[in-house]
Amino acid sequence: MKLSYRPLSFLLMGFVWVLIACLLGLALFLGMTTGRPYGQVFRSLHVHSALIGGVMQIIAGLLLAGREHRKSEPLIFIALNLGTLGMLIGQAHGHFPLMSLAAIVLLGAFFPLREDLVRQIRHSAMGAPVSYWFYGIAMVSLAGGLLAGTAVPLRLMPYEYIGQGRLLHIHLLTQGFVLLMIVGAMHAQFPAFLNARLHSPMLGQLTFTLLPLGFVVLLAGFLTATLWVQIPGGALMLIGALLYSYNIVRTWTDAGRPRKPASDLCLLATFYLVVAIACGILVSVNMLGDPPFMPFGSLHLTAYTHLAFIGFMLLSLLGALTDLLPRLMAEERTPSNKKRGPYEAALTGIIGRWSLIQLWALSVGTMCIAVVAALVWQYPLNATPVKAVAGAGALMLATGLGLFATKLVQMLIEDPERASKL
Ligand code: HEM
Repeated sequence: MKLSYRPLSFLLMGFVWVLIACLLGLALFLGMTTGRPYGQVFRSLHVHSALIGGVMQIIAGLLLAGREHRKSEPLIFIALNLGTLGMLIGQAHGHFPLMSLAAIVLLGAFFPLREDLVRQIRHSAMGAPVSYWFYGIAMVSLAGGLLAGTAVPLRLMPYEYIGQGRLLHIHLLTQGFVLLMIVGAMHAQFPAFLNARLHSPMLGQLTFTLLPLGFVVLLAGFLTATLWVQIPGGALMLIGALLYSYNIVRTWTDAGRPRKPASDLCLLATFYLVVAIACGILVSVNMLGDPPFMPFGSLHLTAYTHLAFIGFMLLSLLGALTDLLPRLMAEERTPSNKKRGPYEAALTGIIGRWSLIQLWALSVGTMCIAVVAALVWQYPLNATPVKAVAGAGALMLATGLGLFATKLVQMLIEDPERASKL
């Protein structure tokens, strides 16, 4: 297929990066649970391909897809992908100037998207003031997260603040930017999946107020290493997430509880968001004990964070791709309106295949990571229950992702001429 640099290319390329990252993640997870951990470089490659090449590129694709005239954007596409590649090569070779250059290129890639964001804010059902606050925090987080990521390796901040710099880098990008952008996009996209209205714009306004506020308080708690600030910050975020989930579920029930693969993925994702934030609060509460009430190692950290990374972020984005890809692919590949309808219907049929198995595989796989972390409180790493659940979890996640990837390939080889004759 010819690359058009339209939103479709961003979404497909984003998924390719996510897939690569998840394969690396599976290797990391199995390495951890078999007592043969991979090095820091491997971890960095996983994190950066997932978040930058994958999640950020899909977010850029979603913003571009909201345009009335979806024109080709080769510079943004090249900047995002070269920036990601530069970042990965820089990480692999420990080449700090290359990493910093890549961060600047990535920041530049988002600059032309500011007008798309302003358009999203103007059309937001939540109204301009609260949307400017919400997306303002998201944008400041993107810039601050990339700058903190540049400042740490280049030693632009005093040595004693490196730990805080790293915390700032990770939290600004994952929670401040990615989490807020996905929640913001879902307030518009989820009702659109169902051809319905958002249940309550007022609840949406509360979510748009509380989630960023909670995040700012939480960040202050991390930077000052004060658990009594982190916990209220987490609680504010939890209230925001609960209101968001309620609003999304009620939007679905108001629409007559339709069974659509895209909305199923997003509904499940809201559940994981609430669980992940609740677990985050428990992690802080655990640290109140000296020593902590329960031992907490890197496997526990991975299990808790991936309730958000896989359970919320990945499922929400797969939901968005499930809804948008058939439409965008039909639009790009069939110039005639007459052929577009049947072709889009054929593609929607393909992406809807095995959707229940895919949903369960991804969901149970994510839960298995959490169960493994809980099991190691009882058993040593090489015990059979730990190995069995870790193996089953990896298999489930690989199955869910493999199914999605197979359907994308089937969509790409589906002939528009054949579909329009059916
Ligand atoms: C099949 C899916 C995935 C698996 C099995 C997986 C596994 C892992 C593992 C084992 C680690 C810890 C590595 C270490 O400490 O040595 C890790 C870290 C990380 N992963 Fe993933 N991952 C997956 C998907 C994702 C996705 C989709 C994202 C982003 C949306 C993501 C973001 C991160 C981040 C930011 C870290 C570093 C912080 C942390 O340890 O939590 N991962 N992953």
